[in-house]
Amino acid sequence: MRTILTGLALVGLALCSADGSAAGAAGPSPELIAYGKALVEAGDCAGCHTADPAKPFAGGKRIDTPFGAIYAPNLTPDRDTGIGGWTDADFTRALRTGIAPDGSNYYPAFPYPYFTKMTKDDTLAIRAYLGTLAPVASRNKPPELRWPFGYRGLMRLWNAMYFKPGLFEPDQTKSAAWNRGGYLVTGLGHCGACHTPKNYFGADREAQALSGNEVGGWFAPRLDGAARTGLKSWSEADITEYLQSGRNAKSHAGGPMAEVVVNSTSKMSDADGRAIATYLKSLPPARRETIVTPPDAAEMKAGQAVYARLCVACHEADGTGSPRIYPPLPGNALLQSVNPSSTLRIILDGAHTVTTPRAPNTGEMPAYAKQLSDGEIAAVTNYIRNSWGNAGPLVTPAQVAKARKEQP
Ligand code: HEC
Ligand code: HEC
Ligand code: HEC
Repeated sequence: MRTILTGLALVGLALCSADGSAAGAAGPSPELIAYGKALVEAGDCAGCHTADPAKPFAGGKRIDTPFGAIYAPNLTPDRDTGIGGWTDADFTRALRTGIAPDGSNYYPAFPYPYFTKMTKDDTLAIRAYLGTLAPVASRNKPPELRWPFGYRGLMRLWNAMYFKPGLFEPDQTKSAAWNRGGYLVTGLGHCGACHTPKNYFGADREAQALSGNEVGGWFAPRLDGAARTGLKSWSEADITEYLQSGRNAKSHAGGPMAEVVVNSTSKMSDADGRAIATYLKSLPPARRETIVTPPDAAEMKAGQAVYARLCVACHEADGTGSPRIYPPLPGNALLQSVNPSSTLRIILDGAHTVTTPRAPNTGEMPAYAKQLSDGEIAAVTNYIRNSWGNAGPLVTPAQVAKARKEQP
């Protein structure tokens, strides 16, 4: 156990100065700062803490939760409004236990329940990088949470019930890549924040880890080994390609995942991308697939008519599309997911294919919100979810109407 743990922290340690502290008298080394920057990317800190790209990490970005809105704070080294006056110990404690320097509790909209798995050296490397940013004076905004959640003291109870502090526990029977992947997925990369179903109080349902969850009007699909709606049909290479370039021969990243790809996973090293794939491919299905009753013949016929009129030009009559340009619909896990939110979003709003250095060309999916009624969108959705061997539970016009209202 110790060996692997040391292995994981090796780079971090190797980059620290000889006395073991992150910042010697001469300040942190360029290597430590570069390592910290890579960790900040892997944790997608900018995704929440940057509201204005001209003021990176100065906070102010609104994060909507089922309990109300909360604003990410200023992480720049400004002494009055940022974290310039914090000690290293304050910083590590905030990330690993969710407790502020004044002893008050953070809300788990800050992913400390995942960051707790991080080594101390990694938190200090992050701190070293954040210390190199230009200080920006920007005062933190108080949260706007519904009663009684405005009372931070409640989070003590939440922590007592749901927060499991502690480092990632390496499994010696598994490879170094698996352990690195586990560290990233369950810790720094906080994939479960979106992909794990939540209980009534917004805590992860651990027994169903990474088995799919709705987030901000999108559905973050299963990342476990479920055959129809999980990653069973994706190879490690498919997963790595998706994380690195936002698309592969199976699907394209849209909505919040497109942002995760651009800010975070596309910037990870090849080894880290592959490590995540190794870890995810080892996950057995956390729960059974839902049994699906196919839509009736009239619904399929209505859906096929819409599909033949509007969709075949790009996706082809047999749904195969053109890999990495028009994603294939047969066997598509996200498309067949129990929760159709992501599919409804893309049909209603359309999409621009995300661009990354590895896949710089973009593409367009038209928006159909204006052109099609709730009934037509439900019918075409049911058709593509249940053709070519696919099976997905029935989508009703009422669900389409609800998704329409959530339109950003
Ligand atoms: C999903 C959004 C999200 C991500 C990703 C995120 N944070 Fe935060 N962070 C928050 C929110 C929201 C708060 C404020 C919580 C509160 O007020 O209770 C916060 C608070 C903090 C604080 C406390 C600051 C203060 O002034 O009290 C620190 C430090 C911090 N985050 C560091 C990080 C680092 C480092 C990363 C990346 C490794 C990161 N955060 C990633 C949302 C996020
Ligand atoms: C902010 C929320 C969020 C976070 C954090 C997040 N994801 Fe996602 N993810 C999504 C959503 C939403 C989708 C569906 C994307 C779409 O509609 O195209 C998705 C899709 C995916 C898919 C495609 C699955 C399929 O069947 O199409 C993979 C693989 C994936 N995510 C992996 C990850 C990994 C690994 C992490 C952590 C490093 C992660 N995600 C973190 C929201 C998130
Ligand atoms: C002009 C070409 C074009 C037409 C017409 C078109 N699409 Fe698409 N579709 C795309 C592109 C491009 C994407 C990938 C978008 C992205 O990268 O996020 C896509 C993505 C999708 C996805 C998500 C698949 C995934 O795994 O990411 C679904 C579902 C879908 N289209 C359904 C439809 C339906 C239903 C119609 C007809 C009502 C339709 N499309 C018409 C180009 C098209």
